Amino acid sequence: MSKLSIVIPIAIFLSAAAAAQELSPVVLPKPQMEGGRPLMQVLKERTSQREFAPDPLPPQVLSNLLWAAWGVNRPESGKRTAPSAMNRQEMDVYVALAEGVYLYDAKEHGLKLVVAGDLRALTGTQPYVGTAPLNLVYVSRGGDAAGGGIQAGLISENVYLFCSSERLATVVRGSVNREPLAKAMKLGPDQKIVLAQTVGYPPKK
Ligand SMILES: Cc1cc2nc3c(=O)[nH]c(=O)nc-3n(C[C@H](O)[C@H](O)[C@H](O)COP(=O)(O)O)c2cc1C
Repeated sequence: MSKLSIVIPIAIFLSAAAAAQELSPVVLPKPQMEGGRPLMQVLKERTSQREFAPDPLPPQVLSNLLWAAWGVNRPESGKRTAPSAMNRQEMDVYVALAEGVYLYDAKEHGLKLVVAGDLRALTGTQPYVGTAPLNLVYVSRGGDAAGGGIQAGLISENVYLFCSSERLATVVRGSVNREPLAKAMKLGPDQKIVLAQTVGYPPKK
């Protein structure tokens, strides 16, 4: 597995990987689990925002965000930052960046290239999705549609809290044209797109 130095901007690293259609996983920088703002302040300021600066997220921020969303927080059991029904963990987080769509591999804390190229605009119907640096797509592997909604809700709230803490902008979205996106992401018949979530920096005022 390739080692990613935190000093290499992730966009450059990922563009090279995507251009080469390289399928070897990218290891993210180790997530930083200390810090963050006090929980009550974070909750006070949690909000949906629909305006984003185009600036990419630095590798460390992306790493921290994905770990907060759905990372492994107890390596001894493989359990995660969000609960799941009977610990089935039937949800995958896909990461749509300008360079391509990646699958978040929580166990390795890395990204696996799924499709090279910019599919951001396909992840939603609202204009900002094509220009915000990151769209997460929550994809269920379970047959239980209600369970998938709850699971995506739990993960997306983790993202909301992280974003509030880091003063990033985010909005979770049900508005997704699921069929064309699933086709473009090469999803299997048992995989269902539940929600998407846009993340980025708020525009500079
Ligand atoms: C399941 C779900 C689906 C949503 N879908 C969209 C969406 O497609 N587009 C959008 O702009 N906001 C969407 N939202 C965000 C809500 O509009 C937003 O949470 C609500 O207006 C309350 O605002 P707040 O998050 O700032 O408290 C969705 C929220 C949830 C929970």
